[in-house]
Amino acid sequence: MRAIEVNLVKDTYKVLYSDIQQGIQTIQPKSINGRKIAIISDEGAANDNLDVLKKALSDFSIETIEIILPPGEKNKELMVVGNIIDKILSKKFERGDLIIGLGGGVIGDLSGFVAGIVHRGVRFINIPTTLLAQVDSSIGGKTGVNSKYGKNLIGCFKQPELVICDINSLSTLPKRDLLAGYSELVKHALIGDAELFSFLQDNVKNIFNDYSVLQEAIYRSALVKADIVMKDTHEKNIRAHLNLGHTYGHAIESYYKYDGRLLHGEAISIGIIMAFKTSFSLGLCTTDQLHIVEDHFNKIGLLTDLKSLNGKKILPEKIIDLMKSDKKVTNGSINLVLPKEIGSVEIRNDVNESVILDVLHETFNH
Ligand SMILES: NC(=O)c1ccc[n+]([C@@H]2O[C@H](COP(=O)([O-])OP(=O)(O)OC[C@H]3O[C@@H](n4cnc5c(N)ncnc54)[C@H](O)[C@@H]3O)[C@@H](O)[C@H]2O)c1
Repeated sequence: MRAIEVNLVKDTYKVLYSDIQQGIQTIQPKSINGRKIAIISDEGAANDNLDVLKKALSDFSIETIEIILPPGEKNKELMVVGNIIDKILSKKFERGDLIIGLGGGVIGDLSGFVAGIVHRGVRFINIPTTLLAQVDSSIGGKTGVNSKYGKNLIGCFKQPELVICDINSLSTLPKRDLLAGYSELVKHALIGDAELFSFLQDNVKNIFNDYSVLQEAIYRSALVKADIVMKDTHEKNIRAHLNLGHTYGHAIESYYKYDGRLLHGEAISIGIIMAFKTSFSLGLCTTDQLHIVEDHFNKIGLLTDLKSLNGKKILPEKIIDLMKSDKKVTNGSINLVLPKEIGSVEIRNDVNESVILDVLHETFNH
């Protein structure tokens, strides 16, 4: 069974690449027998996977509590956190019991946050069922929910004790969500693994049809993430590289109010191209590099700007305001992760607003 071992100062855990049944069988029965297990999922993820998970858990002597939410980013809300906590506490959920998150990044962020705060922290296993969650959100322990002031502004670090990535669960994932996850997969190549980007270029036509290619890409992309998290768990320095495309992306996403018109990963592919354009304006990267990445996104079917999205005219100044309320702002200046070349980035907090405005105008076609 292929695995990545995430070794942190306080926590060590494995990210397993196996089917759910095999992954669950790695749990020591004595560590969960007699315990309650709260499974938190949503209707999209629970689809086939919940039955598979329940069957895998049936070998243990446990009591399960199922919480299946409607799908969507709207679940990342304090009210939903409170409802889940009320429900599990009403079932006498104890400090030594276990939460399993079964779903995409939304369920991972939400269930990890619940696991981080209920009884001041309980055990947590993450079973990511979207591409985005398998390459990115399930690794590193960032959990949380959104605030009306911006995305992911409320949360905590809560590392899982095990992550199980079953590639078969991706077979039911809608193509749009698969593509959205692909933008985070590529992001890891762009910040830390130029060879992975070449691999993706070579396989751009067949990556979603050939699971051996996709599995290799997921593993190598997740390795970049795990490596960064191991070097800088609490984002004191290089973990911020993972925010490539996110300062622009989060602002655009927040502008659309998470109503489904633009998925997180779609905002990130646009944000990555905006970061490349900013880099190019500052002379940090060449136009060739920008066009290679733009071309790759176009070939795979990811958005590179907002021109195709209908709606009222977007004011770039409004997006700048949203960028300023992002948690990546320090002392009022906007932090941007900017590509130097494919596989390498740097953080800048001194980019002139006029440069950012030009990039925003170009992206919205004003
Ligand atoms: N914690 C982190 O480090 C981190 C990193 C990146 C993104 N995120 C967060 O991740 C979230 C986005 O995650 P996402 O793109 O996975 O979205 P998501 O969790 O909303 O899942 C997308 C959709 O796919 C459905 N779904 C999930 N698994 C499925 C399956 N196997 N088959 C069919 N449908 C399935 C869900 O029901 C949902 O409708 C955002 O909230 C973002 O902020 C967190």
